[in-house]
Amino acid sequence: MLNFLTAGESHGPQLTGIIEGIPAGLHIDIDAINKELSARQGGYGRGNRQKIEHDQVQFVGGLRHGITLGSPVAMVINNRDHAHWNEIMDPTSPQTPENTLRKVERPRPGHADLVGGMKYRHHDLRNVLERSSARETAMRVAVGAVCKQVLQAAGIDLVGYVQQIGSVNADEKMEINVSKIESEITKNDLRVLDQSKVREVHDLIDKTKRDGDTLGGIIRVVATGVPAGLGSYISWDTKLDAKLAAAVVGVNAMKGVEIGDGFEAATSFGSQVMDEIDWHKGEGFTRNSDHLGGFEGGMTNGMPIIVKAAMKPIPTLYKPLQSVDIETKEVKKANVERSDTTAIVPASIVIESVVAIELAKALTDKFDADNIDRLKEQLATYKEEIKNF
Ligand SMILES: Cc1cc2nc3c(=O)[nH]c(=O)nc-3n(C[C@H](O)[C@H](O)[C@H](O)COP(=O)(O)O)c2cc1C
Repeated sequence: MLNFLTAGESHGPQLTGIIEGIPAGLHIDIDAINKELSARQGGYGRGNRQKIEHDQVQFVGGLRHGITLGSPVAMVINNRDHAHWNEIMDPTSPQTPENTLRKVERPRPGHADLVGGMKYRHHDLRNVLERSSARETAMRVAVGAVCKQVLQAAGIDLVGYVQQIGSVNADEKMEINVSKIESEITKNDLRVLDQSKVREVHDLIDKTKRDGDTLGGIIRVVATGVPAGLGSYISWDTKLDAKLAAAVVGVNAMKGVEIGDGFEAATSFGSQVMDEIDWHKGEGFTRNSDHLGGFEGGMTNGMPIIVKAAMKPIPTLYKPLQSVDIETKEVKKANVERSDTTAIVPASIVIESVVAIELAKALTDKFDADNIDRLKEQLATYKEEIKNF
């Protein structure tokens, strides 16, 4: 069973990730992982933290001569910014008045600060925000990038991009060709398909920043080459669409998820939503449309998977909202921590990564997970079988 765990605080020494269940014999392309990490650091609207970091993954287990061994894959990413937080974030040295200098006592509405403090009895809310910070998603991107390489070996490609930023829609096309999407979104610093909207979005982000405010948006992920039959209708917790939804909402700041036409399907007639079935010699069963985003009964149906995520605006505001000091109980402005105006661009890479992780889990659940070549052989036999169903 493929699974993973991450550890590490935002300004701690490093992020650590361990993945179990990656098949043996997979050649790992480290440059491809680092490319994803640097893409997560980019995008218009980000704060100054990204100028300090230069995320690079280091493998410390599960790999020999660049090839997976079948043992747990262990990775680390250093936090360069830790150099500025050495004393405050030292994992082992005892607490002193000096090293608690950056104490946080005015929780930010919309962040984990207040409830995290109450739950874990932290009176310095830095103990909460250091882990609830989206810095952790750098490691989720590294885990996702490894999983993407498992998927690529199985002929599955995917991409996540930005459809909407604040109120501006930058995607009328609803493209489903992964390489076409990739070539368009890399032409701008917003990961959007519609180049004519870039200026308008830049202006919106600049104005929002000047106003001390923040923005959210909508992300779309497309995955192609996914065979029919991943996931299962047998039980609620075996449905792959449900697992994808949980993984998407498990990313910081995500407030909504849609599969295929999603909420729009609820306002349409059945005849407009169900994907009619067709059959072609040599190809087997196909569909004439993809309104259901590649899922029926919690199983992939062989059509492209379409997942959308709604991200709320960033909770840290440079013009802070009302809060209450947790010690004095006085009404005060919320704490301000160095922050992004919008993180919709990096979030699109994170969402792509968590979708990759869930698809790789489903793939290795269904086919041999000991060795990547055996997985490929089994998959080829299965594809042939369902083509002739
Ligand atoms: C890639 C990414 C970057 C983020 N950057 C920030 C940030 O700079 N400042 C901030 O307050 N929140 C940021 N967030 C959102 C918070 O991490 C998130 O809102 C917070 O952990 C509370 O969790 P929740 O919104 O899921 O309830 C970011 C989220 C993502 C996905």
